[in-house]
Amino acid sequence: MSIPRKKQLIGLDIGSFSIKLVEINHNKKGRRLKNFGVALLPEGAIVEGEIQRPKEISSVIKRLFHNLKVRNKKVAISISGFSVIAKKIKVDISDEEGIEKTIRDKAEEYIPFDIDDVNLDFDVLEPEHFFEQDNVDEASEETSNVRDVMVVAAKKDIVNSYMEILEDIRLVPVIMDVDMFALQNAFEISKPWDPQNEDKCIALVDIGAEKIGINIIKENISLFTRVSCPFGGMQITGQLMSKLKVGFEEAEKIKTGGRAINENEKDTVEEIVASVVSEWVREIKSNIDFVYSTYPDESIEKIFVSGGAIGIAGFKDYLSMETGIPVYDLNPFANLIIDESRFDINYLNLMAPQSAVAVGLALRSVDDK
Ligand SMILES: Nc1ncnc2c1ncn2[C@@H]1O[C@H](COP(=O)(O)OP(=O)(O)OP(=O)(O)O)[C@@H](O)[C@H]1O
Ligand SMILES: [Mg+2]
Repeated sequence: MSIPRKKQLIGLDIGSFSIKLVEINHNKKGRRLKNFGVALLPEGAIVEGEIQRPKEISSVIKRLFHNLKVRNKKVAISISGFSVIAKKIKVDISDEEGIEKTIRDKAEEYIPFDIDDVNLDFDVLEPEHFFEQDNVDEASEETSNVRDVMVVAAKKDIVNSYMEILEDIRLVPVIMDVDMFALQNAFEISKPWDPQNEDKCIALVDIGAEKIGINIIKENISLFTRVSCPFGGMQITGQLMSKLKVGFEEAEKIKTGGRAINENEKDTVEEIVASVVSEWVREIKSNIDFVYSTYPDESIEKIFVSGGAIGIAGFKDYLSMETGIPVYDLNPFANLIIDESRFDINYLNLMAPQSAVAVGLALRSVDDK
């Protein structure tokens, strides 16, 4: 289904390393990439999902809109970090009127913040999407009104700080999503079609600068979501800075192969990369093991990875080796119509890993809730 032009939104992924902007025109012919840009943020502008330097972030976003000549002011953004929690809970939804209160009371048990300090959002999942859990009496659930409900809680002050930086430059935040759900939307439009895997479990893993997000899905429904584990590319940069006594930019270059490393540095670099990557893989694996313990009959067929940090040499092979699951890149541009006279395909390919969340956001429309 196409989205009328007026209802389209700009996808704006405000990451801790860089801001990504994606605009997609969606009409009968398909989804066409209209605009794309990335702008780096100054180091420390966002730390652990919290805005530290709002003015600098606003001005980077403003410049990005200006340079790309983006006219649409309505944006979809996402939040993540430690102040956001997504959790699937079981709720009896018989009392339609009181559902919000029921979910609020129930969510209170799972949320480590004061319920008055958070914005709560929820999505009642369809009954046909019950998955087999070892500790659930399925037959009784199918006839009852107990449903899986995805609850998202985000601390109000964090939400407000994102709103403020946008309103400061006269952008209109229409949708506030969560990185891992935007990623799921990007995956849905870009996944390679494979009839044998249509109803299988898939893991989506995003490794950015400061966080790893995990979303395990089946038939486009999330079984399990970790919004933010405190790991990412910045761990390597930080250790390179302190061990090699170099600045942020130089450490980034060493990490991404933009500057040759000498013999004295080689062992240190390799040790840092190996120890950080093994931490990432351990974390991903422990989340997968948790899913297996909750859904013993499920089997994850594929892992799709995104985020800038997946560019670390050897990471994907190591992840695949340790989990025994094949690992693929999530290329969010794969099924978009791209005008090659307007976009540099090599640049898009280079940026594809870190653009998945922004593409997912650009798919949202004014009419979404
Ligand atoms: N080719 C590469 N090899 C290794 N690391 C890379 C490469 N390109 C980018 N990175 C790293 O990826 C990270 C940025 O990724 P990304 O843009 O996905 O993060 P972000 O969305 O801004 O951050 P976050 O989501 O954690 O807030 C940085 O740590 C950067 O150094
Ligand atoms: Mg990110």
